[in-house]
Amino acid sequence: TESLTVAALAKKLHREPTEVVKKLFMVGVMATVNQELDKDTIELICEDYGVEVEEEILVDSTDLETYFDEEVEAGKMIERPAVVTIMGHVDHGKTTLLDSIRKTKVTAGEAGGITQHIGAYQIDNDGKKITFLDTPGHAAFTTMRARGAKVTDITILVVAADDGVMPQTVEAINHAKAAEVPIIIAVNKMDKQAANPDRVMQELTEHGLVSEAWGGDTIFVPVSALNGDGIDNLLEMIGLVSEVEELKADPTRRAMGTVIEAELDKGRGSVATLLVQDGTLRVGDPIVVGNTFGRVRAMVNDIGRRVKEAGPSTPVEITGLNDVPLAGDRFVVFEDEKTARSIGESRAQQALQAQRGEKTRVSLDNLFEQM
Ligand code: GTP
Ligand code: MG
Repeated sequence: TESLTVAALAKKLHREPTEVVKKLFMVGVMATVNQELDKDTIELICEDYGVEVEEEILVDSTDLETYFDEEVEAGKMIERPAVVTIMGHVDHGKTTLLDSIRKTKVTAGEAGGITQHIGAYQIDNDGKKITFLDTPGHAAFTTMRARGAKVTDITILVVAADDGVMPQTVEAINHAKAAEVPIIIAVNKMDKQAANPDRVMQELTEHGLVSEAWGGDTIFVPVSALNGDGIDNLLEMIGLVSEVEELKADPTRRAMGTVIEAELDKGRGSVATLLVQDGTLRVGDPIVVGNTFGRVRAMVNDIGRRVKEAGPSTPVEITGLNDVPLAGDRFVVFEDEKTARSIGESRAQQALQAQRGEKTRVSLDNLFEQM
């Protein structure tokens, strides 16, 4: 690639995009922040900042994040399922709610299939798929957010009606707000004598989440994860919010996404649960996952069945990596195994060097760090 957007260049130069826009204006180029700049213009600006440009500096092929920014043709974009995360305070019913949703929607058609558990699953809600992530605590979510990796489209905040807003409820609200993810409130345990949904609404108002009933725009759904009351309503609301979000992806592009969880299995080696966020992942694909690489050897879906491919918003478990990646790591598919290996190896090398505090490659980024 011989071009960068103004924003991407500004990032590499550690400057504000608006500053670069001004600079461009000074040299007679009218540009907006998202505008692509050609090589000559980039060189001109870099010169102005006293930075020498080497061609390979323009795009760092080992930075997996850059592949997520690759341009896609609007015509190839199709609707994709929403990815929903369930968060909330300890014991407020997250797991029970997930089980309840899975039970109402999966068991019927996929009898016997749900024993397998891969930390994420997909349901079919009246012809529309929804992907649920079973967050093993907030740790992975925090890592992902720290890296700017957006994985979730919608957060379901579970608040027990008999307990109200608690510390981890507030934590979850902050996570969702920082990630700019819409929140739907599931007021759970409505079957309990002590249930007090008004108190939940009152307490959440203090955190800027005002129910539609009270003139705000936050959706509150009373449910009982235990007996299944309100689950259909909750799913309907998820459907509505997904429609507003206009979630799209291009199934024809190279597959990319995020690691949900990963572990070393005695028999199968490195096993990673991936969420495909864009493109289509196929068995045999050369892949870089975090600082690991390989070829997708086998792929298993959320109900334990072997699959050959997985499209956008689909969670799958894969084997075939040389090492165990970390939850929150990004993955990207490459055209051939040689490229995947070379990128994977340099990423592992870079990680090792970063650990030791060394620097070998000179790029714009570390040039500035040295100044
Ligand atoms: P952690 O994973 O430990 O944070 O808890 P959790 O949020 O996943 O809660 P979990 O689903 O394990 O539920 C905690 C307890 O609340 C369990 O004993 C559930 O049976 C109970 N519970 C969950 N939902 C309901 C509900 O709707 N009604 C009633 N009465 N009990 C519920
Ligand atoms: Mg739980």
